[in-house]
Order: sequence, then structure tokens, then C-alpha cells
Amino acid sequence: MAKAKESVFFCQSCGFESAKWLGQCPSCHEWNTMTEEPVFLKKNSNSGASGGVSRGRVQPVSLDLVEIDEEDRISSEIEELDRVLGGGIVKGSLVLVGGDPGIGKSTLLLQLCRNVSEKGHSVLYVSGEESAKQIKLRAMRIGEFKGDLSLLCDTDLDSIAEIIEKNKPEIVIVDSIQTMVNSMVSASAGSVSQVRESTGVLLRLAKVLGITIFIVGHVTKEGAVAGPKVLEHMVDTVLYFEGDIRGSYRLLRAVKNRFGSTDEIGVFEMHANGLGQVINPSEYMLSGREAKTSGNVVTCTIEGTRPLLIEIQALVCDSNFGYAKRQATGTDLNRLNLLLAVLEKRVGLRLSASDAYVNIAGGLKVNEPSMDLGIVMAVVSSFKNIPVNENTVAFGEVGLSGEVRAVSMCDRRINEAKKLGFSTVIIPAANHKSAEGIKGIEIIEVKTAEDVINIM
Ligand code: TYD
Ligand code: MG
Repeated sequence: MAKAKESVFFCQSCGFESAKWLGQCPSCHEWNTMTEEPVFLKKNSNSGASGGVSRGRVQPVSLDLVEIDEEDRISSEIEELDRVLGGGIVKGSLVLVGGDPGIGKSTLLLQLCRNVSEKGHSVLYVSGEESAKQIKLRAMRIGEFKGDLSLLCDTDLDSIAEIIEKNKPEIVIVDSIQTMVNSMVSASAGSVSQVRESTGVLLRLAKVLGITIFIVGHVTKEGAVAGPKVLEHMVDTVLYFEGDIRGSYRLLRAVKNRFGSTDEIGVFEMHANGLGQVINPSEYMLSGREAKTSGNVVTCTIEGTRPLLIEIQALVCDSNFGYAKRQATGTDLNRLNLLLAVLEKRVGLRLSASDAYVNIAGGLKVNEPSMDLGIVMAVVSSFKNIPVNENTVAFGEVGLSGEVRAVSMCDRRINEAKKLGFSTVIIPAANHKSAEGIKGIEIIEVKTAEDVINIM
């Protein structure tokens, strides 16, 4: 008789399960992420969290009888966060906040705790990473806490679940899921099975008790602990904190949201006293711009539903080696190569003997096709060493035959440029209709990449 399997292999990055060890995960194609974990659940815990939590207490209800009232959302009093959540914190939802260590997840959630507890909501902050003293120190940096905020420094999920069931706080923060230990699972903390099972327990708690639980998940590259990708499918909302840890701004992006639109972003800035909101991101992204140098072009992308003005910088110089070096920071290198090929073939610029570097100022990562025109202008400007008029914004997709194609939400982009005091916008001729009727800013329509270069 075959022996029952005692362990399986999990990919720490995406949670893929395999009976044998593999060098590369067939699902997410990451290397060296498979680790062995015991498969069985311990049977010793009968009062334990995942078994105990109100299993069997839920009864079926008729759809007609389900009531929805608008007050099911609580405002976090942080406008940028509310927008990303789809208009506030939804009661009974499970929200995953992912991001690199040190990016500001704990800080943002502690600020949220302060705001909602001040309004009289009961909040429980569970930390498996920091001591109560450390949290207090952080809280003192953030400011005054007027409301009642309970702290629980523990990693034992059974007792945490018991406390949540007993006290029924309206909002619970679990910081972080990778430190939680569920006694039903024999694998160590941070393993795929442990992280999944612990989230399962929290999911049941949120749904049965109707409380909102925020789970913090660190993104890890080494694969030592399971990343938040493993639980994206289990939770209602997934928010990711992005940005350069050394830079001061942070982007909060909704990747999945059962209660609102995805692709919304919130922009924050790390101060000495916590995270501050950036209400006008375009202005922020363009601050410190060196307008009169060649190779700098302002373009407008759309993040969620919001237009965002950003600066594209290009540096084109003679290549010292046999082959030209190309580098893209903050945007797609393949796209850059393609645009350079279009310029070479359709416009006749001899770029093959030049190195080309393109950078999105501010450390932002953008991959929208509407940036093409800006990249093309920046490259040409640097190549010919003629600065682009500093009061110009340009956007449009560039096709393989050098044609400039229409972009979405053209009117919003133009209005954003106008709002920030730009005098001219260069837009695709195909967007003619959406630009009609916009006054107070000069609108230049272009059909091909060559047109733009002639204008320059
Ligand atoms: P933190 O919220 O602990 O990150 P995470 O929980 O995502 O790991 O943020 C840590 C960083 O933020 C840390 O490097 C210090 C910095 N910070 C400030 O600059 N100002 C502040 O007021 C606070 C609380 C943190
Ligand atoms: Mg933290």
C-alpha cells in the first residue's frame, strides 16, 4: 500500500502546489520559490480558531430579505484611502494591504485606526511584529489619539480569534499575516499553508461577525515567507503600496475591489509625522522640473479615473561600443525599443548608433500607451539637442507606421494641463471631437510622429 504523502511543495510567490520539488514554478515562472511544507492539519485543537469560529452558525437567507443600507461604509477620514477603497471602509469586508517592508503599511493603518476610533468606532490593532511600546512610539509620531484603541501583541491566531469573537470590534488590523500562527496547521509561520489557513479564519470572522479586517502582507522577493499574492483570491479588496522607499511619495493602488472600481490610486507622502495626502499629484510630480533642458517633455497619463501629469526625460548620446545601449526606468524597455525603431524607419533618424536612456521623473512606473508621443518627443529633443517648449503637454499612442493614435479620456487630460497652467497641448488628430469646445489652451492636433517633429 502506498504511504500517504506527508508533505507537499508550495511556491512562496503565488501559492502553486506541487507533489515534487521544481526549480521553476510552472504558474508564476519564478525560480527557487518552491519549499516543502507538511500537508496534514493537527487534530489537537478543538477550541481552536479555524474550527471554532462560528462554523455552522450561518443560515441561508432569501435574496429578497437581504437588506442594504448606505451606512455600511465608514469613512477613514483619509480622502485618498477612501477613494481607493471605493468610497470608505465596507463593513464585513476583508482587505489586504500589501507592499514592500518599510513602505508605510503599518503607519497608514495606524492613522486609519486613530481617525475611526476618534469617531467612536471600536478598533483592535493586532501586531505580531511590534511590541505595544513600539506601536505607542509610532503613535506618538503620528499625533494625538483621542479615541479608544486596543492593542494586542500576539501571534497566536486561536487566542486572537477568541478575543475578536468576544469583543466584536468594528475594525481589526492584523499586522502582518506572515507572523500569525494557526495551531491547526503544522507548517511554520509565514508558510503558504499557514498564511492561507490564517486568512481563512479571518475571512470567516469578518463575514460572520460583520466586522472589517485589514490584513497586512509583506511582499518578499527571496521567497522566505509567502507573499500576499497567495491570498489575493480570498479577500474582498487588495491594495498595494508602491513607490521608492528612499523617495518620499507612495502610491496606494487597488488591484482588486469587490466594492468599487480598481485602478484607483491614492498618493501619499511620508513626513516626519506619518503619511500625508497629496491632494494634487500632478503639481507634486512636476515640482523641481528643469524646464529649459533638452530631452524633457511633460505628458499626461490616466491613473484610475484621474489624469496625472508626469515628466519624461530622455538622454540620447553617441554610443562608445559596437552596439547601442538602451535603458528605460519607470516604463517598458520593449516599448522604448519599438519607438526608437519607428523613429529610425518612419522618420529617418539615425538612432542605431546612439545610446538612449528614458526615465520617468519621480520614480513612478507607468505603462500607458498614451506616453508614446511624449517619449518620442523627449528622444528627438535630446537627439537634436533642442528643448521642447516648457509650457507644452503631449500625449498620444504611436503606432508602428508612425501614426499617432487616439487615447481615452482626452478631454480630462487637456483640462488637467489647463488647470496646471500649461499653454499648449499636443493631442492625436483622431481625438479631435473630444477636444472641441475646450477654451483657454492652444490645442495642436497631430497625425504622425513626423508632424510632431516638424512642430518641434
Ligand atoms: P512602516 O509603516 O513601519 O512600514 P511597513 O509597515 O510597511 O513595514 O513605515 C516605516 C518607515 O516609515 C520607516 O522607515 C520610518 C518611516 N516613518 C516616517 O518617516 N515617519 C513617520 O512618522 C513614521 C511613523 C514612519
Ligand atoms: Mg509594519
